[in-house]
Amino acid sequence: MPLVKMSEILNSVKDTSYAIGAFNVSNMEMAMGAIKAAEEMHAPLIMQIAEGRLRYSPLDLVGPVMVAAAKRCKMPAAVQLDHGKTKEMITLALEIGFTSVMFDGSSYPLDENIALTKQVRALADTYGASVEGEIGSIGGAEGDGADSDIAITRVEDAIRFANETGVDALAIAIGTAHGNYKKKPQLRIDRLKEVAAVVKTPLVLHGGTGLTEDDFRNCFHNGIKKINIATASYDSVASEIKATYQAKPESNYFDFSDAAVTGTYKNIIKHMHIFEMQDKA
Ligand code: 13P
Repeated sequence: MPLVKMSEILNSVKDTSYAIGAFNVSNMEMAMGAIKAAEEMHAPLIMQIAEGRLRYSPLDLVGPVMVAAAKRCKMPAAVQLDHGKTKEMITLALEIGFTSVMFDGSSYPLDENIALTKQVRALADTYGASVEGEIGSIGGAEGDGADSDIAITRVEDAIRFANETGVDALAIAIGTAHGNYKKKPQLRIDRLKEVAAVVKTPLVLHGGTGLTEDDFRNCFHNGIKKINIATASYDSVASEIKATYQAKPESNYFDFSDAAVTGTYKNIIKHMHIFEMQDKA
């Protein structure tokens, strides 16, 4: 299967019976675990890495690995820069062949967020890539450790942002936060329904780690089309490596490398089942 634009995968979701998981990876082993899960599920794959993680996995090194993994995948696969903040990294991702870039302008006032997102839209268009934008403020931060408060997306802002920027996917804030939850999140399904009723752009849920199966279903049954999962995969890799060591303290590097593939695969396949992604490729 070719590497595809993210919009192709998201636009193929025609009803609310399932959602597409988008899974963050940081290296070759995690990318291998992701494609194994997608192939086994016969499901499309979105792989991403957040700009805030690039100090561990430089984009010029991990990016080509992600693109190569997507090309190797037998299912349609898209590769996205998640939470792009700088023009430099967004341009590099596009040069490397990412088929989507997210511009996270959520910390700017709405007018500025719209203006900057439009610039990213124009740049991505020259590469034939998709764009994800964000409005409102999702709690926490993927990758850079900074905490931010949740600011629930306003319906009128979502309409304006979607119309003026022409993004292919729109991340909205409905009470989730990145990372493991310190207290149970209060999901604003009421707001999700209001936005989904008037905005036709595929809506994205960030901060998937730690939500219950019911939370996920409630979100995609009410209009979420893409669900981001990062921390749960990193935690699953760490647990698998620890379990490998505990079972066999003399494990070598390659045992741990296999554990990283398996840890990613286990978490992704679990979420693909919850999101009802089987046979959706
Ligand atoms: P989690 O780390 O909470 O799964 O969030 C992932 C995410 O939204 C990536 O952008």
